Amino acid sequence: MPETVTLIPGDGIGPEITASVVRILEAAGAQLQWEEQIAGETALKQVGDPLPKATIDSIKKNRLALKGPLSTPSGTGFRSINVALRQEFELYANVRPVRTLVVGGRYEDIDLVLVRENTEGLYSGVEHYIGIGSDPRAAAESVMLVTRFGVNRILRYAFEYAVKHGRKKVTLAHKANILKYTQGLFLDMGREIAKEYEGKVEFEDRIIDATAMLLVMDPYRFDVIVCENMFGDILSDQIAGLVGGLGLAPGANIGENAAIFEAVHGSAPDIAGKGVANPSALLMAAVMMLDHLGQKEPAQRIRTALEATIRENDSLTPDLKGSGTTQTFTDAVVRRLGSS
Ligand SMILES: NC(=O)c1ccc[n+]([C@@H]2O[C@H](COP(=O)([O-])OP(=O)(O)OC[C@H]3O[C@@H](n4cnc5c(N)ncnc54)[C@H](O)[C@@H]3O)[C@@H](O)[C@H]2O)c1
Repeated sequence: MPETVTLIPGDGIGPEITASVVRILEAAGAQLQWEEQIAGETALKQVGDPLPKATIDSIKKNRLALKGPLSTPSGTGFRSINVALRQEFELYANVRPVRTLVVGGRYEDIDLVLVRENTEGLYSGVEHYIGIGSDPRAAAESVMLVTRFGVNRILRYAFEYAVKHGRKKVTLAHKANILKYTQGLFLDMGREIAKEYEGKVEFEDRIIDATAMLLVMDPYRFDVIVCENMFGDILSDQIAGLVGGLGLAPGANIGENAAIFEAVHGSAPDIAGKGVANPSALLMAAVMMLDHLGQKEPAQRIRTALEATIRENDSLTPDLKGSGTTQTFTDAVVRRLGSS
């Protein structure tokens, strides 16, 4: 029986890369059927709501979605629909693996996984202006909400992920030297939980700014990194940079009752509609979804075809210094699937 998946093409380059990924999944024989829904700016324009009830209901029913990027206006306008979806479905773990595929890049043999807490911290959305005198926006305040429950859940997920995937070490990146309560809670619980995994998974903690520097100086010392929401958001783009940029970084948002797979990158308005977006990140997210569903064979076939296409420098998109297009790159992956 094919698995029914909610498909949200999204904004900007979303529809272009989604069409490419759906074509490749079909060519690989993935057992999936799609229920297409809208969200983000596209939905706001079409139905006046950036997160329509029909989209939420579809994810609730299928418990599984593949999502293109959604634009969020900066500073003003509607709140992030990505954040809203993660909170609505309690997708508490954001898993973002990166691995070197482009040879001859800045680093060889990178193989890292970032596990980001996805529902709390500074992205809880608890913020407001403080008026003073005649200035209604004299100050602004955001709350970094950290719960013992949420911290316990994400740290355990990171250690269990390490065990399940044969990873050696978990690094907890934090700022407990300055944020002694919110980040202190994260660090204290990390140290406690690490004791349960002694002999199975090595544990270390590092201050977030030093972690960022060491990721550039010597990324090989890291394996699984776990951190709170905003730090994870920033570090995940940084680790994408180690392996050739956002075009190659997939992500999974995992909860108890649903999972949403997406690329790390956004809607790339600067290249939207030009036909040059790299579909690889969303494709790799779809492969994570196939793994999640136990559809190992099409997952492996796509991995092999994608890696060969990139390694052999066939029709690469401009972000990977090629002169191909989304279409020619997709053709190249599909061709390899046909001959495998
Ligand atoms: N999960 C999500 O849906 C998500 C994530 C990040 C940003 N966003 C939203 O996306 C919009 C644009 O954000 P941004 O410009 O800061 O980040 P972005 O990731 O969209 O783009 C950053 C740079 O990377 C390039 N890029 C991104 N994906 C690419 C791809 N697949 N192929 C080739 N080049 C690619 C872009 O052209 C741009 O130069 C914003 O509205 C933001 O809120 C959404």
